[in-house]
Formats: sequence, structure tokens, C-alpha cells
Amino acid sequence: MNLNDITIIKTDDSHFNDIMTVEERAFGTDKEADLTAALLKDKTGEPAISLLAYHKDKAVGHILFTRCYVDEMTTKQPLFHILAPLAIIPEYQKMGVGGLLINEGHKLLKEMGSLMVFVLGHIDYYPRHGYINDATQFGYSPTYPIPEKVKDAWMVRSLTKEEFPIKKGRILCCEELNRPEHWRE
Ligand SMILES: CC(C)(COP(=O)(O)OP(=O)(O)OC[C@H]1O[C@@H](n2cnc3c(N)ncnc32)[C@H](O)[C@@H]1OP(=O)(O)O)[C@@H](O)C(=O)NCCC(=O)NCCS
Repeated sequence: MNLNDITIIKTDDSHFNDIMTVEERAFGTDKEADLTAALLKDKTGEPAISLLAYHKDKAVGHILFTRCYVDEMTTKQPLFHILAPLAIIPEYQKMGVGGLLINEGHKLLKEMGSLMVFVLGHIDYYPRHGYINDATQFGYSPTYPIPEKVKDAWMVRSLTKEEFPIKKGRILCCEELNRPEHWRE
């Protein structure tokens, strides 16, 4: 597979089934697909960015960024996001598709004026794309406390020249992600 043959598109309602197939196949369960379906409907996560990667006419990867808030969910907030989930179907993993989706997502987030991105994920993977491990040490605590042994999995990345462009505090997500079950291992 040549990465030049991958096309990335912004999704709309017509892509829903492709998104579900990618999420189910990448994670091997319905859990992330169900979460993604809920997130796509959650108005408190808007403006969101949802992208699909296609190889020819086959959907092979999906990424979703939804809006976050510091301390309280009011509209008078800086614009920043959380990346969740990122999913590549098994036979297309480790070929660079995840990286393409992350880069395109960051580009579109910057264009919309988003200042930062958080992620709770693989500690060795996201630093390849500019994320810094253990965001709590910089004053950005996760929505729900995470165990000390996995503190590095809570990561932050600036989308501006400033390292930490938003005020410090507890990071709240949209309503669907503000549930404790999404913050357990
Ligand atoms: C994790 C995932 C999103 C990575 O996407 P990808 O397209 O496979 O990864 P890329 O091709 O962009 O990057 C490949 C590189 O990252 C590394 N990598 C891939 N998955 C990794 C992981 N889980 N942890 C650490 N490194 C990882 C690869 O070893 C490879 O390294 P190399 O360039 O030195 O060979 C994808 O494998 C996936 O969907 N996995 C199942 C679902 C999942 O875990 N999602 C993420 C939740 S946080």
C-alpha cells in the first residue's frame, strides 16, 4: 500500500456506517463504535473534527476530535480539543495512516482556531506527533483521576507557538466523554 493512495475526507451523516465498521474492526469490540456514535451526536463536543481515511473506496481509518472545556462547561471558553478515538483497521496498521489522520486533524484544528489537543492513549505513539506525556504535571488534570502508573498516557499538545496557551485546570470534555467509565483502563 502506498500512502499516496490514501484520501482523507471530512465526514458527514452519509459516512456513518463506514465509521462504525472502522471502529469495530480496529478495536475488535463495539465499545469504541458505540462511544463514537454517541460523540458524533453530542452538541457539547462541537465544533468537532471527524475524518475518514480511504484506500481507494475502502474506509481504513477514522479520527475524531471533540471540544473540551477548562473547569466548567460554559460557552465563554477558549477553543481546544481532545483526540478520541483514533482507529485504523488491522490490515492497514503500522503503515502511516494514523499519522496522516493526526496531521490532517491538527491542520484543520489550527484553521478553526483550536489552541490545544489532549489525548489519553498509547504513551509511545502520540509523542511522535508532538504530544507531551503526563499533562497533569503542567497543571492540566484529567476529567477523572487516572492511576499513577499510567499518568504518562494523559498527554497534551499545543497547536500554537505558545507551549501552554490555555489556563490550567481540570479538563472537562463533552457530556458523552465526561463519564468515569471512559477514564478507566
Ligand atoms: C494505534 C494506532 C491508532 C496507530 O495507527 P497506525 O496507523 O497503525 O500507526 P502509524 O502507521 O501512524 O505509526 C506507525 C508507528 O507507530 C508505532 N505504533 C503503532 N501502534 C503503536 C502503539 N500502540 N504503541 C506504540 N507505538 C505504536 C509503530 O510501531 C510504528 O513505528 P515505526 O514507524 O517505528 O515502525 C492503530 O494501530 C490502531 O488503530 N490500533 C487499534 C486501536 C487503538 O489502539 N487505537 C488508539 C487508541 S489510543
